[in-house]
Amino acid sequence: MKLMRVLNGEAVWPPPVWLMRQAGRYLPEYRQLRAQAGDFLKLCFNPELAAEVTLQPVRRYGFGAAILFSDILVLPMALGQDLRFGEGEGPILPPIKSLADLAALKLEDAPAIYAPVIETVRRTRRGLDDQTALIGFAGGPFTVACYMIDGKGSHGDFPQTRLTAYENPALLEGVIELLTHATIAYLQAQLDAGANCVMLFESWAGILPAKLFRTYVIEPNRLIVAALRAKNPDVKIIGFPRLGGLLVGEYVRATGVDAVGLDTVTDPAAVIAACPADTVFQGNLDPLLLKVGGDALRRGVLDVLNGFAGQKHIFNLGHGITPDVAPEIVAELLNIIRTSSKPV
Ligand code: CP3
Repeated sequence: MKLMRVLNGEAVWPPPVWLMRQAGRYLPEYRQLRAQAGDFLKLCFNPELAAEVTLQPVRRYGFGAAILFSDILVLPMALGQDLRFGEGEGPILPPIKSLADLAALKLEDAPAIYAPVIETVRRTRRGLDDQTALIGFAGGPFTVACYMIDGKGSHGDFPQTRLTAYENPALLEGVIELLTHATIAYLQAQLDAGANCVMLFESWAGILPAKLFRTYVIEPNRLIVAALRAKNPDVKIIGFPRLGGLLVGEYVRATGVDAVGLDTVTDPAAVIAACPADTVFQGNLDPLLLKVGGDALRRGVLDVLNGFAGQKHIFNLGHGITPDVAPEIVAELLNIIRTSSKPV
């Protein structure tokens, strides 16, 4: 498995490729199965269909990895918080406003509720060949807490969660502590079911001041990495402290992740200089270029490949692929990567 070779410390050319949100609405075969399931959450909790959706982009493009088809918000749902995806409006949850709301969530109940997702991991692994890695994942505790406390996506600024950090830190700490424990068990279950590595999506890491970033992003991510590694010494973990800016190097050192997912704005040379020499880098093509194609796409891809030349690199986007991308452009992207000559 090329992806696992890179995570184990080998620089491989051309780099393995997968894309965040590679299974999704830009694919007609996904839209068909989603319609068959009824809605997105029903799809997430149907192991047969979710495994099929996970495999679709791998079959179509031959990606180096499949990523479990699920969502980071399955975990708060398994803890007992209601969740729905309004058509065209993103996730909606009844906001956690008090310690009493938090106390109503039950860590013990979660495994039975997320059991179908674990079954999806098992089925997907059986459906993949031995060259294709299966990535399990969870949201980072801070990012998941943002949705739990704000109750919606709120265009990514999460005012209620940030206010809670100042006005009622015990509440935010309580939510994050619960999520940290739940996430360790959830990722362990995915590894036990056959996931080859795991990724922590800390997509909103970058909305906090540095001091709070250390408390609410680095520390819980560190605890998750340490707990997983204590039980699985060889486990490979990818962190994604999106919008972490100058704190990404500190994030990698302090959490002990093996690999770091990079957002679009991150300059390869700067992040290479900021991270330990054995860090694996994943990213970071601007997803918008998949709507542009042509020379602009080629130049963007070569910039990423050249930027990480000689590094242990997994090619990906800087954020998820959007529903309006034409499936043919993804084939074009892979062709550019596979036919470009090795940078010196
Ligand atoms: O990457 C993959 O292909 C694996 C599956 C996956 C999904 N969501 C499927 C999904 C993963 C890894 C996620 C992670 C996720 N979910 C994140 C972190 C990564 C990131 O994008 O920053 C976040 C913040 C969420 C929460 C979430 N889920 C939002 C805000 C939305 C609505 C926005 C949107 O794109 O519709 C979702 C829905 C969602 N998650 C869809 C998919 C395929 C679209 C659902 C549909 O079919 O309508």
